[in-house]
Parts: sequence; C-alpha cells; structure tokens
Amino acid sequence: MNKKINTIAVCGLSWGDEGKGKITDYLAQKSDIVVRYNGGNNAGHTINANGIKYKFKLIPSGAPLEKECVIGNGCVVDPKVLLEEINNLKKLGINVNLKLSSTAHVIFPFHIALDGLEEKSKGEYKAGTTKRGIGPAYSDKAGRWGIRIFDLIQPEILKPKLEKLFRIKKKLIQTYDPSWNMDFEPMFEEYASLGEKLKPYVTDTAYYLNKEIDSGKRVVFEGAQGNLLCIDHGMYPYGTSSNPNALGISAGTGIPPKKIGKIVGIVKAYTSRVGEGKFPTELFNDTADQIREQGHEYGTVTGRPRRVGWIDLFNIKYGIMINGIETVVITLLDALHGINPIKMCIGYELDGKRLESWPIQHEIIEKCKPIYREFEGWKKLTSNEWSELANQGYDSLPETMKKYLQAIKEELKIDIAMISLGPNRNDTILLDNELF
Ligand code: IMP
Repeated sequence: MNKKINTIAVCGLSWGDEGKGKITDYLAQKSDIVVRYNGGNNAGHTINANGIKYKFKLIPSGAPLEKECVIGNGCVVDPKVLLEEINNLKKLGINVNLKLSSTAHVIFPFHIALDGLEEKSKGEYKAGTTKRGIGPAYSDKAGRWGIRIFDLIQPEILKPKLEKLFRIKKKLIQTYDPSWNMDFEPMFEEYASLGEKLKPYVTDTAYYLNKEIDSGKRVVFEGAQGNLLCIDHGMYPYGTSSNPNALGISAGTGIPPKKIGKIVGIVKAYTSRVGEGKFPTELFNDTADQIREQGHEYGTVTGRPRRVGWIDLFNIKYGIMINGIETVVITLLDALHGINPIKMCIGYELDGKRLESWPIQHEIIEKCKPIYREFEGWKKLTSNEWSELANQGYDSLPETMKKYLQAIKEELKIDIAMISLGPNRNDTILLDNELF
C-alpha cells in the first residue's frame, strides 16, 4: 500500500449550504477523483466555473473539471434526477466520468409520496424536509427492505423485490391518504428502463476507490448537508437521515478511516438553516433580509428562503470535535458587506451559567441564550471589487474583516486554510499552500 495518502474531505460544520460545492471544485483542480458519500438530491451544490453556474444535486462537484466522479454506497439515488444531471452535463459538452456504487439505495416514487405524508403527520416534530424521499429511502435501507442499484439494473432481480416493497408501501401510503394510487407494472417498467440507462456507470466503488487511493491518486470526499443535520450527532429529529460529517465517509464509501487524509471544515461567515428546528443565533429583522439577499440564501433544491443568523462558534467547535477538523475554510465573507455591527456567538448561557459543551438536545437548546462578541463591519463592494481583492491577497482585505477572521481563529483555536470572497473559483485566497 502506498504510504502517502492523498485524500481530503470537505465537511460542512453547520446546517449545510456553507459553500462546500465551491471549495470542492477548487480542490478538485488538484485531484483525480471526487466522491459523494452521503445524501441524495436533497443536496444542492452550486459551482461557478467557465462562466457557467452549475447546480448539482447528486453528481459530485468535480464534474465541471471532468474529474472522475463517484457516487458512493452511502448515497440514496433518484435515477430520474441522476440521468437528468448526466444529460445536462452532456448537453454542455462535458465528458461525464461517473462511477455509481452498485450498493447505493434507490429512491422510488412511493418514497417521495411518503416523505410528504409523514412530515404532515409529525406536526411540530417535522424536519421540514426537501420532500425528495430521502428519509423513507434510508428507512427502507435500515429496515432491510431497500432496493439497491445492483437490483435496479437487473429486471429479474428487481421485479420480485420491488413488487413486495410496493405492496406494503401502497398500503402504508393509503393509511395516510386513501386516495393515493399507483399501478405496479408501469412503475416497474419505467424503473427497469431507468436502470438500463444507468447500467454503464455502475461499479463496485469500494474496490475501485481503495485501489486508486493505494496507487497514490488524489481524492476529494465531498460531504452533503452539514454536521448539525447528522442523524446521529445533529439536532435530532430536525435533520437529515444520513451522516453528512466525516464520520459518514468510511461507511458511505468503503474507505477505511486511516485512508482519510485531511478533513477540512467549511464555515460560513454567518449561519443559515432551511427547514425546522431551533437556531439560537437566528435573526428576524432587516439585517436578516440584507444577509439573505447578499448571500443569495434561497434553497438550491427547493427555492425556499433560508433562515439566517450570526455565526455560531459554539456549535462549530462541536463540529470540529465530531469531524476531527484540522483546518477551516471561511466562506461568504463578501455577503456580510455593509452590515454593521457584525455579531459572533462564542458560547451559550443556560440559567445564568455558561455551558461547557454544545447541548445537542433540542429541548435544552431552546432555553439557551447566545453570548456574543461584536465587530465593526466592512463596507459594501461590487463583485468585481471583491474578485480584485481576492486576486491581491490577504493583505489587501479590509482591516475590520481581518480582525473578524483573527477572532474566529483564536476562538476556535484552529488555522484558516482558505477564505472565499465570491462565487467564482478565483474569488478565493489560499492561506495554506500545503492544504492539498
Ligand atoms: P431531508 O434531507 O430532505 O430529509 O430533509 C431533512 C432536513 O435537512 C430538512 O431540515 C432540510 O431542510 C435539511 N436539508 C437537507 N438537505 C439539505 C442541504 O443540502 N442543505 C441544507 N439543508 C438541507
């Protein structure tokens, strides 16, 4: 085995939408392979490259650079969405080098129907899902009902499994909504034909990736969503159904932990959240509207306006611990321009006492009061001016921004490897040349 491990993981430390797509694309420039290991088309990764704005839900962010892209076994795949993304890339003249795990699970229309209906019946405990069938597909995986890509591409294996699952799901859906109806045969025919189209991409990705990593290939693991949405270590039940943090990489790819090199945490200069659940630093005023507009904080998948608030270094510290983060990237600093003052949450207070550790329980978090530090903001610039500053380097940044970054570094006791000042690949300042 090659002693040098050339792999890096990109993990969001908050509730997703930290700018992982852009950072993955940046790192992909020096990589051979980009791998998605969790989630499905609930994710929305935006990349601005070659004058085009790419929005991926399933395809790894290495696609615009025509890198080898792998969808690992930890993902759940809606075949229609994946084929649409492949076709869109082909229309742009991009070579799609995709390997799809034979053991990733498949999302069917009944999963999507159940997602909406289950959310409705959960009332105040609903997560505010993207309604893409993610939770129900992962439920079937855990329940050992699930249908995998291996089954999908072989109609004789697919038919009996799908028929059994469909019968049960139909009954279940009709307990929520008696008017729901769907016939098995046309659905089976449609999915068998989607499977046929995906067949050329299907690979045993665990073998493939281990072999490539052992031979020294450079690999980026791209997380979807963020640490606080993790099914095990996030704000349950207000999260997603997978492990979006570094803990999900091994299970979601078949790569053992010792082959995961650096783990980089992506931190947005403020916080955003889509869906339900407490958000201690949330803002409800004009400042919130200004940040939302300046940061284009509208869901890539659903178009929902995102909830926004101040950066929360207390929950980010928790993310650093859970993910084993060695260095962070700060994104969307430009989106805070013109905001004054800027606040930074450095801890929570509960019943007059400062907490030592981030209280994972939703019922405790709702009683906590954030403790803030205040910073002078920086003035508004045009996107060209931000690009120019990125080009000139760190020293050219406004002093107030440098103070804010220095405070993040000190509070988190961690180095900042890179900062992002805009959506384009070049609107980036690399502070650690050894990053990857
Ligand atoms: P699901 O993943 O569609 O089941 O949704 C569960 C929760 O995770 C909801 O609060 C969603 O808004 C949130 N969520 C899922 N995917 C993303 C994402 O890519 N970014 C931000 N939030 C997400």
